[in-house]
Amino acid sequence: MAQETNSGLKNNYPPLLQLQGSKLHNVRVTELMDHFVVKYKQEPEFLVRVPGRVNLIGEHVDYCGYSVLPMAIQYDIMVAVKRISEPQLYLTNMDSSHSDFQCPIHSFSIEVKKGVSPHWYNYFLCGLKGVLEALPQDSVGMFVAVTGNVPQQSGLSSSSALVSAAALAAAHANNLKMTKLEIASLSATSERYIGTEGGGMDQAIAFLGTRGCAKHIQFNPLRSEDVKLPDGVVFVIAHSLAVLNKAKTSDFNCRVAECRLASQIMAKKRGLSWEKVSSLADLQSTMTASLGEMIALVKEFLHEQPYSKEEICRELEVSGMCLDQLSLSNNTTDINQFKLHQRALHVYQEANRVKVFREVCQKDMEGSVALMKLGELMCQSHHSLQKLYECSHPNLDRLVELGKGKALGSRLTGAGWGGCIVALTTKDTVDDYIKTLKEKFYKENPAAFGKDLDSLVFATEPNVGAEIYEMKM
Ligand code: GLA
Repeated sequence: MAQETNSGLKNNYPPLLQLQGSKLHNVRVTELMDHFVVKYKQEPEFLVRVPGRVNLIGEHVDYCGYSVLPMAIQYDIMVAVKRISEPQLYLTNMDSSHSDFQCPIHSFSIEVKKGVSPHWYNYFLCGLKGVLEALPQDSVGMFVAVTGNVPQQSGLSSSSALVSAAALAAAHANNLKMTKLEIASLSATSERYIGTEGGGMDQAIAFLGTRGCAKHIQFNPLRSEDVKLPDGVVFVIAHSLAVLNKAKTSDFNCRVAECRLASQIMAKKRGLSWEKVSSLADLQSTMTASLGEMIALVKEFLHEQPYSKEEICRELEVSGMCLDQLSLSNNTTDINQFKLHQRALHVYQEANRVKVFREVCQKDMEGSVALMKLGELMCQSHHSLQKLYECSHPNLDRLVELGKGKALGSRLTGAGWGGCIVALTTKDTVDDYIKTLKEKFYKENPAAFGKDLDSLVFATEPNVGAEIYEMKM
């Protein structure tokens, strides 16, 4: 069962608010409502808002069972909904490059094609499917209009925000009461219908985000704690101008598989029943060892040269077919090179960095010492993601390099292979840092020509999680 440690509130539901008179009643909302009325000739009944996120530290560790430290950002996905008696789902998106979609509410398939980015509406269908499975009755039909300003395929969780918004919208439309933790878990599980084996970070922060605080999120069971950032800290997000859809390639799932295989081979070498070990954290708790001991174990048990599938089968004493079933996913069975040492080393060291980052925030350390330490941890994280996890991109590395001396530290955020970096600056240095990146990176990069630079590099602060707004009093 999921639990929230800091508040102790089991009944912590996504807030149900009135749109009238709220801060949300802005131009974007009016445009979304107008779009809805033009499409459906009716007014929406309610609106769901789900934010994107930036992960401050703890990258590629959630699906290994380790905690992460993200915060919700100011950009979001909004979904306007009206229940209808016809058992159909009608979807429209304000982004005109996203075509309208319609299907029976109870029977649809989520298309997953190798090497192809999924159509936008498949993410909505993931969230809907999760709720349909949880509903004791048939779902109502829905008219839905979507808008979003979370940069897409940029590591800021636009896809998970859409999946989570769909789940919350479908749950509310059907009067299914779920706590934040329950709906976050449901959204994380249902996003996997798109074919990627993500952890639960994005959906958790989407529901659990609070204004002014980053969150330390732990899994199994899901729980979260506020992390107050040191005074004067300002985080900046900078886009690398390279994008990646993690459902399009097998890179993401390959990393998940490599971590699983690393844990299973180490378990076998320690004489444990490796088939029961599902993650690197699972292995650590089975062994009741410290992170330091796990790091030593990686160095002792896993070699640096890539493992072939045959070698892994030999180590685990299984057939290729059996390995496919026990340890690999649909799009990773064809891979024949697995870097187990490097990936496991990154995960255990990154898990330790999250621990230290959180301790620094908790301790009453002198301001500048704390900031330097946090910056150092972020730099180490990026270096590890670049060298050990190999999920960076030359543009991300360049942004990190250019910021040295101007920011206290920076790192890629989200899945990587493109997307954004997050940098640690202060109230006094933020403007200079942003100016430097604009001049040295964006003004020289043709991919940024003609774009609003303020939308590519901007300061952010911890924001509130998902909310539901009723239209009528
Ligand atoms: C994606 C996944 C998350 C997490 C990050 C990497 O955003 O959805 O669960 O694994 O990548 O930290």
